[in-house]
Amino acid sequence: MAPAAINEPPRLDVAALKAAAGPQAPVVDLRSFAHFNNTPGIGTEFRAAGDYRDKSGKPILALRDILDDPASLRALGRLVSERGVVFFRDADISTDEQLKLVHALGLLGGKPETSGLHVNPCTAPGQKEGDEVARISNNYVFGEKFKRDQSTMLLRRVGKLSWHSDITYEPVPSDYACLTIRTVPETGGDTLWASAYDAFDRLSPPMRKFLEGLTALHKGVGFIQLARKFGIPEFRENRGSPENVGQALEAVHPVVRTHPITGWKGLFVNREFTQRIVELTPYESDQLLEFLFNHISDNQDIQVRFRWEPHSVAIWDNRCTFHTATFDLDNNVREGTRGLSLGEKPYLDPNSLTRREALEKQGVKPQS
Ligand code: SIN
Repeated sequence: MAPAAINEPPRLDVAALKAAAGPQAPVVDLRSFAHFNNTPGIGTEFRAAGDYRDKSGKPILALRDILDDPASLRALGRLVSERGVVFFRDADISTDEQLKLVHALGLLGGKPETSGLHVNPCTAPGQKEGDEVARISNNYVFGEKFKRDQSTMLLRRVGKLSWHSDITYEPVPSDYACLTIRTVPETGGDTLWASAYDAFDRLSPPMRKFLEGLTALHKGVGFIQLARKFGIPEFRENRGSPENVGQALEAVHPVVRTHPITGWKGLFVNREFTQRIVELTPYESDQLLEFLFNHISDNQDIQVRFRWEPHSVAIWDNRCTFHTATFDLDNNVREGTRGLSLGEKPYLDPNSLTRREALEKQGVKPQS
């Protein structure tokens, strides 16, 4: 596999991709393949034949079979945006395929053509697999070479404190992400996602109205600390979009955003990156954010938990979900790779609806 060019998205023929998924393209309904919803509100899983959760007799969908089919990819993007996260089992895809997949999902969903793939601010130029591939590893922190000792173990991250949407410190944050865990621990290391649609829908109408008038400052504090600790002199300047530049790693976004594909409103603050609500006093901001962060992390009603198996792939939409890994590993190694597409600048359309309101208007009974 040829390494992806540094700081350039993988080569996709954008015009051909869009033309092939244009109005004349067949409408693909991925729900015509064997699948089940992991929970009413979030998560859909395509499973191998014979799984007890799908007795429909429908055909099996292999991710590999649709990687080069723009009409199916457009349908996949729509499904991910509706369900928040979609899981495939037995889908052995390369890092290059991960990058192409998320970039294609974003382009087919109408993201600006200036939005490529994200480059982590701390990535040194010239990684073998391309600068856009994020390596996920519990070994970075807990491996022996980092002199693990009891005090390090006590500093292990806590799942409740690690909920986030990817890279919201960037002015142009992420739309689609694709993660596969390539070294799967025997047990542990699950990932959890929460629905931003549900998080917003479950607030009272006066609270929703109040939040819609607010914006929040997001900052990549963890990366700033990491750079200081490891003597990284400066952050990467071109991080996949002409707007994702500069050394501050911060951006102001609406607290409630409208999803450009579904048109549904979702809550858009997260504990990892959101620092403060701009329009409030620091004290008010701290209290309100703490409430909202807990609303996301302490609420299993709006979450799905996924256990990794070899060749499992998760594809999620950062515009309508939050996620966290589970930090319960000790000697077990967990390593994976993630590709991250950049979307559009977050916005709130005051005329947009919550998911529940929108489905009720269409006469569809919301599932949760
Ligand atoms: C991520 O935060 O994008 C990775 C989540 C995981 O390692 O489970």
